Amino acid sequence: MRTETPPIIRLADYRPSDYLIDRVELDVRLHPTETRITATLALRPNPKGEAGAPLVLDGDELTLLALDLDGQPPAPGAVEVQPRALVLHQPPRRPFTLAIETQVNPSANTKLMGLYRSGGVYCTQCEADGFRRITYFLDRPDVMAVYTTRIEADLEEAPVLLGNGNPGQAGPAGEGRHYAVWHDPHPKPAYLFALVGGRLGRVATRFTTMEGRDVEIAVYVEPGKEPRAPYALDAVARSMAWDETAFGRPYDLDVFNVVAVSDFNMGAMENKGLNIFNDKYVLASPDTATDADYANIEAIIAHEYFHNWSGNRVTCRDWFQLCLKEGLTVFRDQEFSSDARSRPVHRIAEVRTLRARQFPEDAGPLAHPVRPQAYREINNFYTATVYEKGAEIVRMLRTLLGPGAFRGGMDRYFAACDGTAATVEDFLAAFAAESGRDLAAFARWYAQAGTPTVAVSGRHDPAARTYTLAFRQSLPTVVTEAASGAAPLPLVIPVALGLVDPGGGAVAGRSDRVRDGVFVLEAEEDSLVFTDVDAAPVPSLFRGFSAPVKVAHALTPAERLALLSHDSDPFNRWQAAQSLGLEAILSRVRAGAPQAEEAGPRGEALSRALAAFLDAEALADPAFAALVLTLPGDQEAAQEIGTEVDPDAIHRARQTLRTHLGRDLAARLAALREALAEPPGAPFSPDAASAGRRALRNVALDLLAAADPGLGTRLAVAQVEAAATMTDRLAALAVLTLLPGEARERALAGFAEAYRDEPLVLDKWFAIQAAIPEPGTVARVRGLMEHPAFALGNPNRVRSLIGSFSLNNPTQFHRPDGAGYDLVAEAVRHLDGKNPQVAARLLTAFNNWRMVEAGRRQKAEEALRAVAAVTGLSPDVSDIVGRSLG
Ligand code: PHE
Ligand code: ZN
Repeated sequence: MRTETPPIIRLADYRPSDYLIDRVELDVRLHPTETRITATLALRPNPKGEAGAPLVLDGDELTLLALDLDGQPPAPGAVEVQPRALVLHQPPRRPFTLAIETQVNPSANTKLMGLYRSGGVYCTQCEADGFRRITYFLDRPDVMAVYTTRIEADLEEAPVLLGNGNPGQAGPAGEGRHYAVWHDPHPKPAYLFALVGGRLGRVATRFTTMEGRDVEIAVYVEPGKEPRAPYALDAVARSMAWDETAFGRPYDLDVFNVVAVSDFNMGAMENKGLNIFNDKYVLASPDTATDADYANIEAIIAHEYFHNWSGNRVTCRDWFQLCLKEGLTVFRDQEFSSDARSRPVHRIAEVRTLRARQFPEDAGPLAHPVRPQAYREINNFYTATVYEKGAEIVRMLRTLLGPGAFRGGMDRYFAACDGTAATVEDFLAAFAAESGRDLAAFARWYAQAGTPTVAVSGRHDPAARTYTLAFRQSLPTVVTEAASGAAPLPLVIPVALGLVDPGGGAVAGRSDRVRDGVFVLEAEEDSLVFTDVDAAPVPSLFRGFSAPVKVAHALTPAERLALLSHDSDPFNRWQAAQSLGLEAILSRVRAGAPQAEEAGPRGEALSRALAAFLDAEALADPAFAALVLTLPGDQEAAQEIGTEVDPDAIHRARQTLRTHLGRDLAARLAALREALAEPPGAPFSPDAASAGRRALRNVALDLLAAADPGLGTRLAVAQVEAAATMTDRLAALAVLTLLPGEARERALAGFAEAYRDEPLVLDKWFAIQAAIPEPGTVARVRGLMEHPAFALGNPNRVRSLIGSFSLNNPTQFHRPDGAGYDLVAEAVRHLDGKNPQVAARLLTAFNNWRMVEAGRRQKAEEALRAVAAVTGLSPDVSDIVGRSLG
């Protein structure tokens, strides 16, 4: 087999479908290896398409058993079966019916796209183009139909049968089989189709919508795991209530089902009325799930539920519009979590993810606009840019328009586009109509890749009593296959800002260009004058991270300290500590002295600032304090340096700084651990306040261990043994993994033994070992790939072991001898034959390869070229490797 580069698909080439499908009747007879599907499609020519064009139905790895056109076998020669399509020449120029019988083998489906089996459960995954692996279809999101699905299965094997929409008839089907019919009255694209059949446990509750609809909500899990399902179930009910109050959006079916499966390529999927989840984002108990797991479950349950309006009721015209549903829905789930937890703490978490995942993507060879203009493989565009930067664009829209006009615009959007497949233009038009504003310049955020930098400088004029801020925005020129690299146009950048008095007093300064605390930077350069400013203030810029930009704003340590102590904006208080930490790390690296004994002026300033902060308010908001105490990661420092990066130097600089902080703050950290200790037998709560106390306690442990490995080992070993929650146990184990020695190996072995039957817990065990920053880790990871609990076929296992190695272990992934690159490249090659989507995602870890110094760069390139040279590469991997090298 030869590697074929898939053709480029361009947004500019969009054409409506020549045919539409109004109704689909599916009859699915489930069988482990020979599942048969009869699809009866009510088709008609699309008035917007080309009259008389051949009907080209998509198909992938299907066996065609029978075909009928209006109840007759089609004329000989009228039908052509191609490897990836079924073509009907000269179809009727009026509505017609096509009945297609296909056969598939769910047990052999290792791509986990289409109909497959996970732990004996039949399930489907159709986004983006998996429905064509079930039957021949117009598998594109702008073809929307009403589906009725009859599912039949062996009663023993699959007592539970679930489909989209509302349940209909069900009963025995003879020979030990049974059936269930599901009808979904809402027209939907094929990517939202789903069915499930299997032996599953169930927990359920009821919810009455604002319209008075009585809804049954159920969560289905592996039998025996029911006690771990109530948190997710409750999160569904809370999401339903929130979407009513926050956006006026009620649920629209009689049942809402969530099914957890253990083999899933992504996090979860918003199929209409039947969300299918990676079980990692459903199952929770204090002994098996960390606080981060609880928070993720809540967020992803909300995300999939919110898709019912932003994604399902209003879907995407084509896959270029992916951010229309994903960016918007991420924004909605972020707002939900912010309301359910702490808004400032959540905002900081969002920005940390954006900087750790999206900024690097935007700075490397895989950079693309939030709405790409071209793709070869759509599955490679479920990215941090589409999701996270897409959410930031929606957030900026709200900042620019204000909450009232934003909500009005959302209402208009839902009203105007309900039941349709829409575009980014439709979305923006709703806000333009509501606010009377021209959003044409704002729309550039969707079209231009790259992270903008905003350089700011401030000047106080005591005589004139003015304070002037000069802004300059610049955007990197990103060359992609679709866009030539023409000079980017200025963006519309909302700058939420304020002036802070260095002594903590009030600043009187005013500017009529600042409205509700926001200045809008629209030109490449602009300046803002505040009047009535007596003394030089410290500007607090991009409060709440009001735009996804890098800010170049030189402040002295004293000025950063003033912001940390006195800013009214919690995000910028945290940012001040982060900036101090980053500057301290960078100055060590740049001086070529990552391990210097002295803390340096910035390190000293940071220590003093953190000491004062801890004394004043650590216990007031422990979750916030934990974030303030956490230094920016290695990757953020690498990003800042940008070229010829030496990951070892960065790592040493950061570790040494942690050691300094741990020493300087030791007494305070120990006292904090005491003050935050949980009384024995205290009831567990996953709420944000309790999680915040655990987080601060564990950050304290981590810094103490950095300063004194002996003490750290004793404390961590004791905590691993005595911990009442997985959060505390895993945090202590993670601290131990940084302390080489026998205690570590004993603790790891004990953990593996204790959780030998808990795959999701062993994933955490895989992940922390893969992140050990020591030369032995490559061999350790190779060894773990042979562990009985590891399986290359399970995406969670692969991400935990190999994904964690490539993303969370910069010094070992970027080993100078290339052994880290080889490990990941090899895994990609092995996996590609089984599951190309997961293989391609794994390969994106090479995204920043051009940033590292020459020796490593050459090794990385060799590893990438070795992947590129493999014959028969999947389109998924060949797309990523091609763009990475391109
Ligand atoms: N649409 C899913 C989401 O909520 C993501 C997904 C994409 C899942 C493709 C499976 C396959 O974000
Ligand atoms: Zn989504």
